[in-house]
Amino acid sequence: MTRLPVTSFRRAHGSFSFRPCRSTSPTRKVRNIREGWLPLRRGIQAHLARSRGVHCDVAQILIVSGSQQGLDLSARVLLDPGDTVVTEDPQYLGAREVFRSLGAELQPVPVDDEGMLTPGVPARLAYVTPSHQFPTGAVLSLRRRLALLAWADRHDAYVIEDDYDSEFRYDGAPLRAIHGLQVSDRVVYLGTFAKVLFPSIRLGYVVVPHALLPAYRGAKWLSDRHSATLEQRALAAFIEGGHFERTVRMSRTRYGERRDALLRGLAQVPGRPFEVSGAATGLHALARVSGLSRGDLERLIGLAADRGVGVYPAEPYYLNPAEAPAALLFGFATIAPDAIREGLALLHEAYRRL
Ligand SMILES: Cc1ncc(COP(=O)(O)O)c(C=O)c1O
Repeated sequence: MTRLPVTSFRRAHGSFSFRPCRSTSPTRKVRNIREGWLPLRRGIQAHLARSRGVHCDVAQILIVSGSQQGLDLSARVLLDPGDTVVTEDPQYLGAREVFRSLGAELQPVPVDDEGMLTPGVPARLAYVTPSHQFPTGAVLSLRRRLALLAWADRHDAYVIEDDYDSEFRYDGAPLRAIHGLQVSDRVVYLGTFAKVLFPSIRLGYVVVPHALLPAYRGAKWLSDRHSATLEQRALAAFIEGGHFERTVRMSRTRYGERRDALLRGLAQVPGRPFEVSGAATGLHALARVSGLSRGDLERLIGLAADRGVGVYPAEPYYLNPAEAPAALLFGFATIAPDAIREGLALLHEAYRRL
């Protein structure tokens, strides 16, 4: 991701390198460290209230080493072996494999243009990516958000809301996070800085329901004590200095241009075989390729790779890959519009050779 404000981040990082963390009381020091750097948590609290309609106490925010750790801690806190977890189908592999590794039974629920259907079965937990369903890109409708909350209330279940790339909405106003719609305290909200800044930062956060706070804090302490303090302090200064909000605005414009280049290029392929969905938000789009068998799709991916173009099938994200449609995933955030146009011309050439 070129042209991100790496310099301002590095400056913030450098200014903390030689200043040890001080605290007046040993107890407060441990709490502050384990739960995350307080100024960073305050910055996140303000950001979430302003941009996502998530209103929480700062005490509910736990800094984690990437939202993957947030998923892992959530699974450890909430699940016993044999518990049922509702997952979108197709779903994010990083979540699916965490639930599986703890012996949970997955209950896949299909996804349509309005996001995941409302589950029909009881479960301990539902995992959703409502802002930009991974990988289809569908946005969970307000009606379904409310139905999911009603389902959770009925079955005494929790909902994990993975809001991994909600900062990037190109068309229309974003829907309020599910967390902001709840009446009872059942939503675990996950956020990450990997998408909006850079993946190597390995910082994310969990907004934890009050009743689960002691368990999450204990799980975090057992897992890795705390996330890297130096990075947290630099990030807090970065947010406080207004760089974070600026980065979001700048990146939204830049990624929007890249998305437009992708959509225009795919629409120009004669016969319009690529039917794109889920491009209103996020950093990737899914395109169904009409008239191709699974074998054809594999050949297309191979021919594109021979030309130096990386496109990926949606198949691995389906619990039953045999049911997956012929569809390709296009990540566009890190590729300049010219390179996108060039890549699509090569993809088109590969398509003609099928
Ligand atoms: C659906 C989803 N959730 C979360 C993440 C981010 O995880 P992390 O913050 O651990 O990098 C990703 C990254 O690709 C993702 O696709």
